[in-house]
Amino acid sequence: ANNWQGLIQTYRPYLPVSENTPVVTLLEGNTPLIPARAIAAKIGRGVKVYVKYDGLNPTGSFKDRGMTMAISKAKEEGATAVICASTGNTSAAAAAYAKRAGMKAFVVIPDGYVALGKLAQALLYGAEVIAVDGNFDDALNIVRQLSENYPVTLVNSVNPYRLQGQKTAAFEIVDVLGNAPDWLCIPVGNAGNISAYWMGFCEYHTSGKSSRLPKMMGFQAAGAAPLVSGEPIANPDTLATAIRIGNPANWQKAVAVKESSGGEFNPVTDGEILDAYRFLASEEGVFCEPASAASVAGLFKVKDRVPDNASVVCVLTGNGLKDPTSAVDHSLNELKQGIPLNLEKVAGIMGF
Ligand code: F0G
Repeated sequence: ANNWQGLIQTYRPYLPVSENTPVVTLLEGNTPLIPARAIAAKIGRGVKVYVKYDGLNPTGSFKDRGMTMAISKAKEEGATAVICASTGNTSAAAAAYAKRAGMKAFVVIPDGYVALGKLAQALLYGAEVIAVDGNFDDALNIVRQLSENYPVTLVNSVNPYRLQGQKTAAFEIVDVLGNAPDWLCIPVGNAGNISAYWMGFCEYHTSGKSSRLPKMMGFQAAGAAPLVSGEPIANPDTLATAIRIGNPANWQKAVAVKESSGGEFNPVTDGEILDAYRFLASEEGVFCEPASAASVAGLFKVKDRVPDNASVVCVLTGNGLKDPTSAVDHSLNELKQGIPLNLEKVAGIMGF
């Protein structure tokens, strides 16, 4: 749309807002659904693949969808401060939207396990960032207690308004495709987003906007895959720090999504995540952060089970620039360095 007003304005009838809700927005949403022909070619059999590039949101991740709702509702309820635990993206989004609302943001992060782009964002947006000696699950525990004991509103995905905002990504997909895809592939950490997408697909289906519901395929990093094993993991580990989570807060919801959609949870190794991360950049021209590439790594893993001619959407949750360290670590060896400033030499490297 030429005059995009943000997702609350666009999807107002589907959201728990009224005229009294002060809309706090950075004009998030309306992200591109990009045809992914190189991915589709690896599957063949007429399968159509799209990536939902939510890394193009204002703070660079899908969290903006949840945060425009959570912060608008917190403001409506008179909150003056918000708090979240985060592997990075939630903290950046909370910080930005809280700032626009004139609220204070506190964020608690696992020390040493947040990608530098996200950390810098949260600090620059003016949040109070507290790095604790513990993982995300520990951080979520402490912010839950803080929000119960002090006048700060919790804006993690246990806040129901977060999922309300995030469900709009499913609306956008159906609005573009004219129906739901046959499969949705999505990275899963705290399991809020998969639950939100399912809610969105179900609501649109109920209102007659789509004739089918997708099979929800959730992918977790192999070292942080409690929904695959069925057991919380005390020490989750993966280079995809965004989804380095051992005990997802939305566990029950995610299991219900799997069951009602006929979906699955499958693990992808860090090696598979990195291969997909590079493939997306080098073959599709789409740069996402490692955790996001788990959706494509997962699709590659189960590709032989995709029905002929099916449509598949892979969700790319965050922008590649969020995690410059991973980007540099996995690209710098390609740099032609130490080259003299000489026409023939440079042309020679160019292959002329
Ligand atoms: N992808 C990215 C880039 C994320 O940042 C997250 C979660 C997920 C996927 C998983 O989504 O938790 O709804 O299953 N990041 C949270 C954060 C935990 O703090 O930024 P989920």
